Amino acid sequence: MPLHGRDVVSIRDLSREEIISVLDDAKKMIPLAEGNRVSSLLAGKLIAMAFFEPSTRTRLSFESAVHRLGGSCLTIAEPNANSLRKDDNLYDTIRMLSSYADAIVLRHPNEGAARMAARTSDRPVINAGDGVGQHPTQTLQDLATIREQLGTLAGLTVVLLGDLKYGRAVHSLAYALARFDSEIILSSPSAFRLPEELRENLTHEGAKVREEPDLGKAIRDADVLYVTRIQKERFLDETEYRTVVGPYNVDARVLAEAKPKLIVMHPLPRTGELAPEVDQTPHAVYFRQAFLGVPVRMALLTAVLGPTKRGG
Ligand code: NCD
Repeated sequence: MPLHGRDVVSIRDLSREEIISVLDDAKKMIPLAEGNRVSSLLAGKLIAMAFFEPSTRTRLSFESAVHRLGGSCLTIAEPNANSLRKDDNLYDTIRMLSSYADAIVLRHPNEGAARMAARTSDRPVINAGDGVGQHPTQTLQDLATIREQLGTLAGLTVVLLGDLKYGRAVHSLAYALARFDSEIILSSPSAFRLPEELRENLTHEGAKVREEPDLGKAIRDADVLYVTRIQKERFLDETEYRTVVGPYNVDARVLAEAKPKLIVMHPLPRTGELAPEVDQTPHAVYFRQAFLGVPVRMALLTAVLGPTKRGG
């Protein structure tokens, strides 16, 4: 049980072998996630869902995973209604939650919040998105989707499209792709390029990375097109947002140039960058991707919580 008792803050906290092991377990858990088999793997476990930023898919897929495995959740899901609005700080909240629950799933607007929480908590902390930082469980579901649809994770050509500056889903996925010898093509409006430091880290880890702002050229040889929305909430004011937003649109016309087997992914929500007509094409896998969040989170929680608690 190598993941037992561990925190999962960044996808880089997991080795290639550990990622594969979670994906293998997740595949076996698909019938449980579909509700076709019953399980009590998390019976008696209480998991805190501390969401200090809006979330639909991530929180609900975590909760679905916990309930379907017989566990229970303690949920904070209204950032404006919880006690952080009073004088509580994150440190105190995490100390408290770690005495109420067996693990903490945290989403927070500040990059680094999950790392701080992991240092504070004596229970495992799973990062469900920390500002513009990382989103490791999204990455695990992305990898599960790629593996299921294309049969492999190795040696693929993956286009990351959209807001590569603020998008934590792509920041996290890029690190994972580096572990699997993929070629990463970065395609973004110029104001949304991948942060230089992240790009340097990827190159340092041996990833093949190149930039291709022209979407038509970028997808020509691609196996995966990973579309993201502009992260509007990261802008300090609406005027700045309006000045930098450039159009990029994935529709049936763009995909006519792609390989027949290209898969189109999106962490969702979409906000106009991915046309509904794409849903009808064989390229579209984003709803399957959303579903696979459940078995992947089942596998991760089971591995982290295991049959006994950390330190005893
Ligand atoms: C992503 C996120 O929150 O970072 N969404 C998600 O978890 N499904 C991507 C996004 O919000 O654009």
